[in-house]
Amino acid sequence: MLIETIGSIESTINLNFKKNMQPSAGTTAGKLTGKVAVITGGTEGIGFAAAQLFVKEGAFVFITGRRQKELDEAVKVIGSNVHGVQGDVANLADLDRLFDTVGKVKGRIDVLFANAGVAEFSPLAKVTEAHFDKLFNINVRGALFSVQKGLPLLNDGGSIILTGSVAGSKGTPAFGVYGATKAAIRCFVRGWTMELKDRRIRSNVLSPGPTDTPAIDQQPPDAIARIVSTIPMGRMGKPEEIAKAALFLASDDSSFVTGIELFVDGGRAQI
Ligand SMILES: NC(=O)c1ccc[n+]([C@@H]2O[C@H](COP(=O)([O-])OP(=O)(O)OC[C@H]3O[C@@H](n4cnc5c(N)ncnc54)[C@H](OP(=O)(O)O)[C@@H]3O)[C@@H](O)[C@H]2O)c1
Repeated sequence: MLIETIGSIESTINLNFKKNMQPSAGTTAGKLTGKVAVITGGTEGIGFAAAQLFVKEGAFVFITGRRQKELDEAVKVIGSNVHGVQGDVANLADLDRLFDTVGKVKGRIDVLFANAGVAEFSPLAKVTEAHFDKLFNINVRGALFSVQKGLPLLNDGGSIILTGSVAGSKGTPAFGVYGATKAAIRCFVRGWTMELKDRRIRSNVLSPGPTDTPAIDQQPPDAIARIVSTIPMGRMGKPEEIAKAALFLASDDSSFVTGIELFVDGGRAQI
């Protein structure tokens, strides 16, 4: 079942967790003026920060997520030029409905940001089928079919962005399956760069290092301290810092950039 949320919804939902976030400024001329973007996993963290920035830079943005309440809150905080579509990227029927909605509302896509993903730890000896299937279904299958099903609406000259991770390049104990999902999508982009070049569609991976989002907040404090100790800059990234790199890949600022993996990681994977 896929439910939609449009524009400035009126509700009594609790906005406390986004209390530090300000409504977007609107659609003054910017780097994405007139563009239509789809951001999967746009209700929190990196995707939400990107949605806010894209709208501020003039785009109309579709955001998705599985939880309706968080989706409603995100749409309300962004405030305008946003359309929420509830759904799971691992569910192909949900993806069909997402792009059916995008087609009906806007009729085209300029930026397709397949960002939805989940991270879970499991040491090799304890990896289960459920752990493997969950991570690959969301992070790999979800990314692949988000792009495949969005492609008919993507304009020639459009931009595809996949959210990778430093974990696709650097080894971390108990993070092998997650790292493998991010290595897999890195390979998707190599192939798509060639496959879509005649349509001038650029495909790139944006690979954050550890970033202070709800996904990271769920980790125990000692695990967070260990993670931070591996980052040359000595701190985690902020979602807004990753969003700025997403804006670069989405906009004409990166008009001669395709097939790359852009690390935004405080140096984590560079040394
Ligand atoms: N934070 C980091 O340190 C870090 C580092 C490197 C890479 N990344 C990657 O960055 C991306 C975003 O992560 P984040 O840290 O921003 O995570 P987050 O704060 O947990 O946000 C994840 C977003 O994706 C949505 N989502 C998750 N599974 C989904 C699914 N199956 N279908 C649709 N939406 C789904 C979530 O909403 P629902 O839960 O409601 O579905 C939420 O909007 C992921 O691909 C992650 O692997 C994160």
